[in-house]
Amino acid sequence: MAPRPSNVLITGASSGLGEALARACAAEGVVLHLSGRDAARLEATALSCRQLGARVLPRVVDVRDTSGMAEWIAGAGRLDLVIANAGIGTGTGDATEPAAAAREVFETNVTGVLNTVLPALEVMAGQDVAGDGWRGHVAVVASIAAFVASPSAPAYSASKSAVQRWAEARDASERKRGIRLHSICPGFVTTPMTASNPFPMPWIMSADEAARRTLDGIAAGQLRVVYPRRLYALARVVGALPPGWRAWLMGLAPPKPAG
Ligand SMILES: NC(=O)c1ccc[n+]([C@@H]2O[C@H](COP(=O)([O-])OP(=O)(O)OC[C@H]3O[C@@H](n4cnc5c(N)ncnc54)[C@H](OP(=O)(O)O)[C@@H]3O)[C@@H](O)[C@H]2O)c1
Repeated sequence: MAPRPSNVLITGASSGLGEALARACAAEGVVLHLSGRDAARLEATALSCRQLGARVLPRVVDVRDTSGMAEWIAGAGRLDLVIANAGIGTGTGDATEPAAAAREVFETNVTGVLNTVLPALEVMAGQDVAGDGWRGHVAVVASIAAFVASPSAPAYSASKSAVQRWAEARDASERKRGIRLHSICPGFVTTPMTASNPFPMPWIMSADEAARRTLDGIAAGQLRVVYPRRLYALARVVGALPPGWRAWLMGLAPPKPAG
């Protein structure tokens, strides 16, 4: 990819990693399409990106709204980079995962990603090849949680596994249309999502550092952008254990809070 993509669309830009990604992309000559549900927090992100020289077009839209997302993305014009970042996390707490929470996680983290990526691919398929030889790049924010079935966050770990695998599998056929997909698999990042976690979060990093690593990985053409490597190695080892051992080991940690 060119050093800095000129036309960028990011979902979940009103907080945490999405906000940091927006600021990291912002510069003179860059057009940023940013979405979220909270208009005030989205506008705060937009303001800081404008101060960095970007032209910012914020949109309050829920990623679960299939037609709203399609209309927004189809009307955005050229898109060099789309980051399907919006997501929610919930845990079991001391009980089990409420049915409504499990559905909301899948609708946001899986259907919301499809609602972002599928229209974006159609926009990109119809646009000219950029200086880096690709029509566009799509990044799907999954998680290192994709590699371990987490007893205290069943829907979250399953939803992240689904989008990580879908993005990486789909990349092969989209390359033939001149489009790249990237799965983004962060470890723990300091954002509102992790603020109430009662368990140790090894090698947790700032949202700015996570944004930098995400954009560097995409620019380097990595299919899977995963960080930090030490947590990834640990997750791969735990994920490869016999399922009963893995469940016992993971059960030793305090559960992720519900809600
Ligand atoms: N923090 C971590 O340790 C970590 C680790 C790995 C992966 N991730 C992933 O990184 C992504 C960003 O998470 P974060 O940590 O930055 O959390 P966050 O601070 O809670 O931000 C989540 C963002 O997603 C948006 N969002 C949630 N549901 C939405 C919906 N239905 N429609 C539109 N926007 C919606 C929120 O918008 P509003 O607030 O405006 O509703 C917010 O901007 C998520 O996909 C998460 O799973 C996070």
